Amino acid sequence: MKAKITGVAGYVPPQVLTNHDLEKMVETNDEWIVSRTGIKQRHILKDPNKATSDMAVEAVKELLEKTKTAPSEIDFIVCGTVTPDMTFPDTANTIADKVGAKNCFGFDINAACSGFLYALSTGARFVESGQYKKVVVIGADKMSSIIDYTDRATCIIFGDGAGAVMLEPSESEFGIIDEVMGSDGAGREFLHKKAGGSLLPSYMEEASMDKHYVYQEGRTVFKFAVTKMAECVTELMRKNNLTKEDVDWLVPHQANIRIINAVADHAGFPIEKVMMTIENYGNTTAGTLPLCLADYEGRLKKGDKVILTSFGGGFTWGATYLKWAYD
Ligand code: UT7
Repeated sequence: MKAKITGVAGYVPPQVLTNHDLEKMVETNDEWIVSRTGIKQRHILKDPNKATSDMAVEAVKELLEKTKTAPSEIDFIVCGTVTPDMTFPDTANTIADKVGAKNCFGFDINAACSGFLYALSTGARFVESGQYKKVVVIGADKMSSIIDYTDRATCIIFGDGAGAVMLEPSESEFGIIDEVMGSDGAGREFLHKKAGGSLLPSYMEEASMDKHYVYQEGRTVFKFAVTKMAECVTELMRKNNLTKEDVDWLVPHQANIRIINAVADHAGFPIEKVMMTIENYGNTTAGTLPLCLADYEGRLKKGDKVILTSFGGGFTWGATYLKWAYD
């Protein structure tokens, strides 16, 4: 038994933050941002009363409509996010409540930019067990809630967004075939948010405002991202006897166009085979991969060989190989 993706949907909030808007907020310019990252704009959830779950709900509602699924049919919801609505309870169950999924259980996965890939791995195992028939896998982040808009090194990269896929059982060749996953906790030094956990609770005097924002040593993260994604994509292709000609689509995490190009180059993929949304959405953390699939859904054909790959805080990384299951 395999798990196959039977539908995908994405959502970004309407408010757009362009590079020119950022020029008025920090010392930067459009030319630097585009040439160093490939990003022209990102979407921001401005409504102070809305959170990560609200974006995910929009994606899940569209997903249910597209796959003609009633909320009551969902068995399990798994949500990758580092910006849960609250520290607890998990956002997956808030989403379930808001879409009226009364017969399911759910939980969140905290794997930063690899959140969706880790959630997909988890969801696939639940389907493969034979016990769960309709599993919703979500990647969603309201990064604007943890970004310092006076820090030009981080505020130019991140955006808000959510995406979701439906997983169902497959007894054919189509579906999720293999994966190579990894993590290294030593990487926490280079990419993290210090305050708000049990080490430095928000109410402590030491939990100054800057410790509530994303801290990133960009150059170090960049190097690890290229190395780890390139390694796991190569390993996955080797394990599955795939040549670069065999693979129809590479779906890389959208953090920086230079990282994407380096990973694609290493595996030998021409840029036409690489899904790219970074220009319009920036880095939506757990949202990038399902947003790519949603935007390219019309170009995906049944049987297409697809490799998804990601790298993020933790460090976490991975690559997943699947055969697309529908036209
Ligand atoms: O999503 C998962 C994990 N995250 C990533 O994968 C992100 C990985 N890292 C990156 O994408 C890049 O490292 C950044 C986009 C964050 C930064 O780009 P970079 O090319 O690595 O720049 P840098 O940090 O090496 O800085 C180069 C210069 C510095 O000036 P000096 O010291 O050479 O004078 C920075 O101060 O660029 C300066 N700089 C900027 N200049 C204009 C940094 N940010 C900006 C900016 N506008 N926004």
